[in-house]
Parts: sequence; C-alpha cells; structure tokens
Amino acid sequence: MPRIYVIHENDAWVEPLRKAFAELGLPYSEWFVAEGRLDLGSAPPQGVFYNRMSASSHTRGHRYAAELTGGVLAWLESHGRRVVNNGRALQLEISKVAQYGALARHGIRVPHTIAAVGRDAIVEAAKGMRGRFITKHNRAGKGLGLKLFDYVDALSRYFDVAEFEDSVDGVTLIQQYIEAPAPFITRVEFVGGEFLYAVRVDTSLGFELCPADACQVGDAFCPVGESASASAPRFRIIDGFTHPIVDRYRRFLADNGIGIAGIEFITDRSGELHTYDVNTNTNYNADAERDAGKSGMRAIAAYLGRELRALEAAPVPERAAA
Ligand SMILES: Nc1ncnc2c1ncn2[C@@H]1O[C@H](COP(=O)(O)OP(=O)(O)O)[C@@H](O)[C@H]1O
Ligand SMILES: [Mg+2]
Repeated sequence: MPRIYVIHENDAWVEPLRKAFAELGLPYSEWFVAEGRLDLGSAPPQGVFYNRMSASSHTRGHRYAAELTGGVLAWLESHGRRVVNNGRALQLEISKVAQYGALARHGIRVPHTIAAVGRDAIVEAAKGMRGRFITKHNRAGKGLGLKLFDYVDALSRYFDVAEFEDSVDGVTLIQQYIEAPAPFITRVEFVGGEFLYAVRVDTSLGFELCPADACQVGDAFCPVGESASASAPRFRIIDGFTHPIVDRYRRFLADNGIGIAGIEFITDRSGELHTYDVNTNTNYNADAERDAGKSGMRAIAAYLGRELRALEAAPVPERAAA
C-alpha cells in the first residue's frame, strides 16, 4: 500500500506533524536523511514523498544531509514518484541566490544583493551598496551570518578584529538593509500551493526568526525564547490578510516544484514589499496558531492525505528495467 514519506533530519520539527497524521489516521513513514545509503539500482516504494530538508541542517551536525536529499529526490523523480517540494525546491532552500533569481522572474521585488566569495570580493561588494547593508549566508536558515553594517569601513574593520564566519557553501551575500517603519516582518504560509495564512513577526529583539516551538526552548542558534513583551506575542496571525503579492507567490511556488513554504517580506517606509526568504521547510508557531484557531501541520497532513488518495486512484506505473 502506498503511504506518505516524510524526508527530514530534525525530529523536533516533525513532532507536530506526527500528531496531525495520527489525528487524521494517515499512514506515513519517516525517512531520516542525516546519513544513509541510496541504491540507484532499486525502485522506490510507492507513495507521496514530502521533502522537509532544511538549509540549516549542517548546524545540527548533519553536514551532508542536503546533498544526500538531493540524490534521493533525483532518484524519486527519475521513477516518476509524487514529490512535494522536489529537487528544484531543495535547490532554492539551500541557495538564496537561486531564490532571488526565481522570485525576480515572477516580478517579485527582492533586496539589492551581491553574492561574493573571499574577503576582497565581500568588501568590494559592500562598496556597491547604498546606505546600510547586511551580510548573510547564501545557505542559511536561523539567521546565519546576519550582521548589519552602517558603512563599508565597518565591514573591513570587522574582518580585522573578528573571525568572519563563512557560509557552509562559501558564498556570502551582501544585501541592502530594508528600513522598516515598524519592527516586524510578514511571513506568508502556503500549503498545497494555496495561501494558508500570513503571520506578523516582531523583530524588535533581533534577527533570528524560527517559528518552531523546538527552537524556542533549546536551540542555541535560534534564540527566540523571550517574548518582546508580555502583552505582545512575537508571532501573530493576521486576520484576513490579502495582498496582490499572494498571487505572485502562488505562481512562483507552482513554477518551482514547491507545494509547502513560508515566504518572508519586509514592508519599507513607502509601503513597498521586499521579499527576502523562502522557507520550503516551514514551521509554525503554536501560540499564534492557538490564538487564531489554525493549524499549519494539520493543513499539511490533510493535503498529503489528499495527494495519497489521488495516487491510489491513479497509481504511478513502475519504470521498465533498462
Ligand atoms: N534585507 C534585509 N533588510 C532588513 N532585515 C532583513 C533583511 N534580510 C533579512 N532581514 C532580517 O533577518 C532575518 C533573517 O534573514 P533571512 O534572510 O530570513 O535568513 P534565514 O534564511 O537565515 O532565515 C529576517 O527575518 C529579517 O528580520
Ligand atoms: Mg528567514
């Protein structure tokens, strides 16, 4: 019997999804890809494969999990398997350069960004920025490598006094800092390619913004534990969010093999939206969802359940042996 397979490398993030599968009585298995083996001569099982590989997997000691997943997805796709967040989606997950190119193709504004490898190239790139700028890792998640600089000399000085932390893929992004009139960003969640909800995230405490509950309790790299204030939750689902950008995001996702994602934007002083992060491995904030009476993981489970039923109705033929 076909089932749902969840490809991932972080147990904590899958816990809420396990609950949702159990509630809906859906058959699923987990494929933990921190390390593993892939026999290219074998055929994959029948099923719906949901890829939850994360850009930050290397920070959990899983240095090659994304590379292994790339192989797994190529193998699944070569057998015509139904993959939610496919190999193209993974490419975007682990490269903001790839994300920005794909977003721009869909008429979505991204911040002015220069990618650079090597100290001299990074400093040179910073000279091309107007106003304040940030550095960030090309392969990031959890705000890796995020630093705000007021001017180029500050960046050069930083190189002199501190150990510059390179992106795991060696590519640093130098990016225009978007000045927001109020300290928040908006993250728009999609499941099954459709808009689910938008969540407003308070950024007054800093840059790191992983909404997963697991990050809020233990992850030293994801210090989102404290609330900005007792009265203002850090994450708040916006009631009835509508904006023309939602349609553009939807087309961008469909065009890039992404069924499930959270896309982040900042609104500047003139009301212009700047999109800067696509999370194909998305997590949801439990407090915000409780307040709004919504559940992203339940929406994901229900969507994967529908995909599974569609597969049962029209099974994928096995590939003939060469
Ligand atoms: N260009 C920018 N201008 C202002 N703030 C930014 C910009 N890019 C990122 N940030 C802030 O840093 C956070 C993390 O950056 P992001 O690109 O989402 O990296 P990650 O993939 O590590 O989450 C964002 O949520 C936002 O608060
Ligand atoms: Mg982000």
